[in-house]
Amino acid sequence: MSTESITETEKLDLDIPKFSKDSFGLGKKIYIETYGCQMNFSDSEIISSILKDAGMATTSQIETADVILFNTCSIRENAEQKIRNRLDQIKPQKKRNPGLLVGVLGCMAERLKSKLLEEEKIVDLVAGPDSYRTLPQMFAEAEDGNKSVNVFLSREETYSDINPVRLSSNGVTAYVSIMRGCDNMCSFCVVPYTRGRERSRDLLTILKEIKDLHVDGFKEVTLLGQNVDSYKWENKESGSIVNFPQLLDACAQIHPEMRIRFSTSHPKDITDEVLHIIKKHENICNHIHLPAQSGSTKILEKMTRTYTREWYLERIKSIKNILGDTCGISTDIISGFCSETQEDHEETLSLMREVQFNAAYMFSYSERPGTPAAKKYIDDVSELTKKQRLAEIMALQNEISLARNKKEIGRECLMLVEGTSKKSELHLSGKISENKVVIIPAFQFKKGDYVKVRITDCTAGTLFGEVI
Ligand code: 5AD
Ligand code: SF4
Repeated sequence: MSTESITETEKLDLDIPKFSKDSFGLGKKIYIETYGCQMNFSDSEIISSILKDAGMATTSQIETADVILFNTCSIRENAEQKIRNRLDQIKPQKKRNPGLLVGVLGCMAERLKSKLLEEEKIVDLVAGPDSYRTLPQMFAEAEDGNKSVNVFLSREETYSDINPVRLSSNGVTAYVSIMRGCDNMCSFCVVPYTRGRERSRDLLTILKEIKDLHVDGFKEVTLLGQNVDSYKWENKESGSIVNFPQLLDACAQIHPEMRIRFSTSHPKDITDEVLHIIKKHENICNHIHLPAQSGSTKILEKMTRTYTREWYLERIKSIKNILGDTCGISTDIISGFCSETQEDHEETLSLMREVQFNAAYMFSYSERPGTPAAKKYIDDVSELTKKQRLAEIMALQNEISLARNKKEIGRECLMLVEGTSKKSELHLSGKISENKVVIIPAFQFKKGDYVKVRITDCTAGTLFGEVI
């Protein structure tokens, strides 16, 4: 995390007008489109709650909206390009209805700040991830014809008191944000600059949110943070410090039928203590998302991941020792990072073979302006090579996923039904603890039910089961 960038945005905040006008009108309809990670989806639920409290309503009909908001992602260049294309697509609507307000929120807003107003004339307001409480006032400003920018990055904001409005929810699974920002300095990553310093949310508000979800019939929560293992919250009254294993332990005790997942873990920080807490509670899912990024120690060092290939493999060994071979392990891989050679690439493939991930999110490296990698290294692997390596990584993962799923055939497991299968009304879809999707015949079951199943068949991405 660069203090330089924080100071820059904090300075910018001094220029933010203090709002005098009443908030944007009652009953206005807000349409939100969300891009990027789970954290952004969780943020859109927080935004909806803030707007609801200010008398507005969210709508799924873009055509009749008074405000269109894009909650954006900057992680790769193509994520930003997608937003620019969407802004172009809504130009005719803005032309027909000049009173329509268009806002860009989230990481792209934070990265580009007021430059975005110059580059995309259609945009009326630009709001970074820590500014959502000011959205009603920003709408009012923009309605008055004053384009509005708030990209202040806070050291404290966790929206801890806000009760998110569950958007397009299946009523069974929900995200609960436990921290914001990131203090890691992975050289390829823009997140520390777009989401600011790491801060942890008040434990008591996290527990209350999960209890409320339980009362509302939800059966699974995913605790979200850029680096959950560094969760640390100080109880100001007692002076005690709560860490991630303690938080997990407390969440698991809320109700045995409330499943707990979490994401994302960092290989340098995940401890055996966390693994033992997972083992202790039946309702903490047997799945860990542990981004490796590369299998080459040389590349990991350039990425400032602060671990080696050996360290990563040792952590995997611990996971398998403590949680067993069936524990679901997924990862993120980047192909073609600066100076990556064919040998480095082959080390990534061999790491994948050794670990046998059950799933992976795979990307080719996209240089992000302002990141340490953009400043220090040359983006010297050709696009073609990046794509070829990515294709090899994807093909290998497909093989591994299929092989791992085949091993599941015959196994009996508990699945949580999330809804009707996308492909057939007569089937239900849900997940087992290891985070694998299972499809079963519908029978008398409904979403939210726990069903004991035996796995009978699979593809690389899906398991098929029968009810037992
Ligand atoms: N280029 C490609 N992939 C990236 N990621 C983060 N930054 C970049 C980048 N500049 C990937 C990492 C991370 C995931 C969320 O996105 O694998 O874990
Ligand atoms: Fe999420 Fe990162 Fe994209 Fe921001 S840049 S939306 S934190 S994935």
